Amino acid sequence: MIPRIYIPGDSGALALGAEKVAKAVRAELAERGIEAKIVRNGSRGAYFLEPMVEVATAKGRVAYGPVKPSDVKSLFDSGFLTGGHHKRWLGAPDNIPFLAKQTRLTFARCGINDPLSLDAYKSLGGLKGLQNAVAMAPADIVKQVTESGLRGRGGAGFPTGIKWKTVLDTTADKKYIVCNADEGDSATFADRMIMEGDPFVLIEGMVIAGVATGATKGFVYIRSEYPHAVAMMNKAVEVARKAGVLGVNVLGSPNAFDMEIRVGAGAYVCGEETSLLNSLEGKRGVVRAKPPLPAIQGLFGKPTVINNVISLASVPVIMDKGAAFYKDFGMGRSRGTIPIQIAGNVKFGGLFEAAFGMTLGQIVDEIGGGTATGRPVKAVQVGGPLGAYFPRALFDTPFDYEAFAAKDGLIGHAGITVFDDTADMLKQARFAMEFCAIESCGKCTPCRIGSTRGVETIDKIAAGIEPEKQIALVTDLCNTMKFGSLCALGGFTPYPVMSALNHFREDFKPAPVAEAAE
Ligand SMILES: Cc1cc2nc3c(=O)[nH]c(=O)nc-3n(C[C@H](O)[C@H](O)[C@H](O)COP(=O)(O)O)c2cc1C
Ligand code: SF4
Repeated sequence: MIPRIYIPGDSGALALGAEKVAKAVRAELAERGIEAKIVRNGSRGAYFLEPMVEVATAKGRVAYGPVKPSDVKSLFDSGFLTGGHHKRWLGAPDNIPFLAKQTRLTFARCGINDPLSLDAYKSLGGLKGLQNAVAMAPADIVKQVTESGLRGRGGAGFPTGIKWKTVLDTTADKKYIVCNADEGDSATFADRMIMEGDPFVLIEGMVIAGVATGATKGFVYIRSEYPHAVAMMNKAVEVARKAGVLGVNVLGSPNAFDMEIRVGAGAYVCGEETSLLNSLEGKRGVVRAKPPLPAIQGLFGKPTVINNVISLASVPVIMDKGAAFYKDFGMGRSRGTIPIQIAGNVKFGGLFEAAFGMTLGQIVDEIGGGTATGRPVKAVQVGGPLGAYFPRALFDTPFDYEAFAAKDGLIGHAGITVFDDTADMLKQARFAMEFCAIESCGKCTPCRIGSTRGVETIDKIAAGIEPEKQIALVTDLCNTMKFGSLCALGGFTPYPVMSALNHFREDFKPAPVAEAAE
């Protein structure tokens, strides 16, 4: 059998040099006259080890990483095609602690094989959920998703089954499934990883959503900054169509479902579901007032399920193994697993899928290994640009929607950004207001005007102009934005601002005046 070498084609790995490594491996194979198959897999998500190259040996897969092009010659010299030892040797990928400690349900297959091989997908349990779904009544599928406890992974944590039931119960000549792959939050890459590393799991989840609600058409709305994901999804849709996973008779059943990939134009607010619908319809990405809910009048005025990539990609395992299996993981009302994306100034950055319930401290210190700079962790922002900054004093908070809300924080899309003790939290609070001002769709006053006034007021604090008065003003402004904004962009910007102010008050002092040159 010819050797198989796995070199990720995932854009995170490419950014770290995977293409150069692939070129060096090809050159070395040619020079040595060795015939081998190079498989471009996705990433398993241990980005601190990318580019992570794997070889299939008689004893299973062996990983090496992070591999540099300059390592390639010595890897061959060390007999890496049969798992030989080398300074980059990591052993079996499943035994790498960062991967071994995870509970992979949604990401079970991500990064293991060629993402476009449907046979590989099926060999690891793919399509079993859809096979079960097409044999069931729509209401029973919805019931199973509801009973699993799955909540939207896009940010709001809304129960997925309830959303699906509303669409199922609404009569219409046409219904849609829209997948939100705008993934605008800082520190998040779970959606991208799935689309590039296991696109069929998303397609399968969308088809199940269609069968469950009576929708026959799906759209995946992907941000323009994700060209690799767009290309991969387009190719995967073609493969799925040819194999009868999509089409007029899904897996030979009477259910019809097809889908298209659409590319956004690059606005954070287009991740908000009603803005996204406007954008999909070719209109300006402005937030729509609710009601009507998209589940009743969504895309082109028709009942529409809008779900995040991870929500949809979590459905196949639920339909395969059952609601009780999925619900068994987690804590409180946060059931199942969540792909935590660890980023920022952190030693072991990457995607860590785990059952809800780990504490923030475990995630940052034990899994993330603390800061990359080796300095003390000062703050962690959880939930993207609209999430709160948590100090070490809150590190005992379990990763759970309600526990975070109780501490004035949010889980959002589960991205966490780590900061060391050099971070200036006044600057971070200013950045939150500035971000809101830049990204505001402009529809409502508290967000459109409030964010600009917020930047000005924080600038006055930094300049030492009546700081206590300005702090009271920012607090009042945040209150107005929180309760008076139409959507969560204006409504949640107060979270990073107020958490910075409340937990790091010492940073809200005038900037020291530079000493005059002698
Ligand atoms: C400003 C803003 C940006 C958002 N960006 C995203 C996004 O990039 N991806 C996403 O899935 N949800 C995003 N959301 C949440 C969506 O509005 C919506 O709740 C989600 O797509 C519903 O899917 P889910 O129930 O599966 O989470 C955003 C919300 C707001 C207010
Ligand atoms: S809060 Fe901001 S982004 Fe949301 S509708 Fe109002 S102006 Fe638009």
